[in-house]
Amino acid sequence: MYYFFTMANLRIPGPTPLLPQVLSSLSQQMISHRGKSYEKVHQEVVENLKYFYQTKNPIYLLTASGTAGLETAVVNFFSPGDTVVFFTCGEFGNRWSEIGRSFKLNVIQVKFDEGTGVRSEIVKKTLSEMKNIAGVFVTHNETGTGVLNNISEIAPLVKAHPSKPLLLVDSVSALGGVDLPMDKLGVDVLISASQKAWMATPGMTMVAVSPYAWERHQVSSMPRYYFDLTKYEKFAQKNQTPATPAVSVLYSLQSALELMKKEGRENVFKRHLDLRDYFRSEVRKLGLKLVVEDRDASPTVTSIYPPQGIDEKVWRNVLKEKYDLVIAGGMGDLKGKIVRVAHMGNVTKSDLDQVIAAFQKSLKEV
Ligand SMILES: Cc1ncc(COP(=O)(O)O)c(C=O)c1O
Repeated sequence: MYYFFTMANLRIPGPTPLLPQVLSSLSQQMISHRGKSYEKVHQEVVENLKYFYQTKNPIYLLTASGTAGLETAVVNFFSPGDTVVFFTCGEFGNRWSEIGRSFKLNVIQVKFDEGTGVRSEIVKKTLSEMKNIAGVFVTHNETGTGVLNNISEIAPLVKAHPSKPLLLVDSVSALGGVDLPMDKLGVDVLISASQKAWMATPGMTMVAVSPYAWERHQVSSMPRYYFDLTKYEKFAQKNQTPATPAVSVLYSLQSALELMKKEGRENVFKRHLDLRDYFRSEVRKLGLKLVVEDRDASPTVTSIYPPQGIDEKVWRNVLKEKYDLVIAGGMGDLKGKIVRVAHMGNVTKSDLDQVIAAFQKSLKEV
């Protein structure tokens, strides 16, 4: 039972703890990735992902981490020199814009203070001052700070721009746990990763592509090979991937999706919202300060300032050594200044009660 106990106390924003059914799915024997058994698993995973992405668009499964999904979005729909806008509010937005620069896009980055969300007034103003925009990039859930951006406010502003930019969204750390209806909102490229709210093992990024984005793919001249979606589309016709897929990650995702479907999409989304509200209110009761205001708070990760005079590293170390609780520190400018607790995927209120109890006791000690 030791491993269940340890896993239950892994509260970092991915990888997330696996449920027993998902763990056992990993003990399945390998199969040929060019055979019928594999195709069945692939098809089922894609169909169930579509239910949570709320889309009819194809979803491509790439054996790689979420960052590769971000690179896939950069290299498949643009040509070097295209002007694109990144609205960012933390480290993962910075990372995505860096990928854009690496591939010689003309990147306009509009930064929001860390801990606040992308504001639609600024999005509107920025876009209205620009003529030709090939794409607009937004991080749905900025894991570095615990901010959820309001894509339903941003999407219509992007869609209304006369140059018809693509809307590309990184929902690596929210999708599966948070409502983001791709087709209804008109998101063109939507990216997630297996090890987050999907409750599966790390190793797969899932990229959904709208028909409009596909048109742009046909004329994009960006260099690419492994991430070239033309190849993925060709193999998707047979429910396969161009190169060897991470078969065991697919097993785990298949099993996790089955459990998520049983719980029901709306129930999963509501559970995450409830967990966020519950955790934030318990943290406040301890007298701790939250980094993000209620209006921007993420349903999957919460960041907290340690009490004054307490070194967050020392605190996290005590939590790990004495209370078997693993949480994350800050990133970028917030490194050393905050701690982050994830509540994505396989999490219940009682798991968060354990976190709060460990906080209470450990703070007396540090
Ligand atoms: C919002 C966001 N984007 C991208 C990534 C990168 O994902 P990966 O670490 O799987 O490459 C992460 C990882 O935490 C993330 O939270």
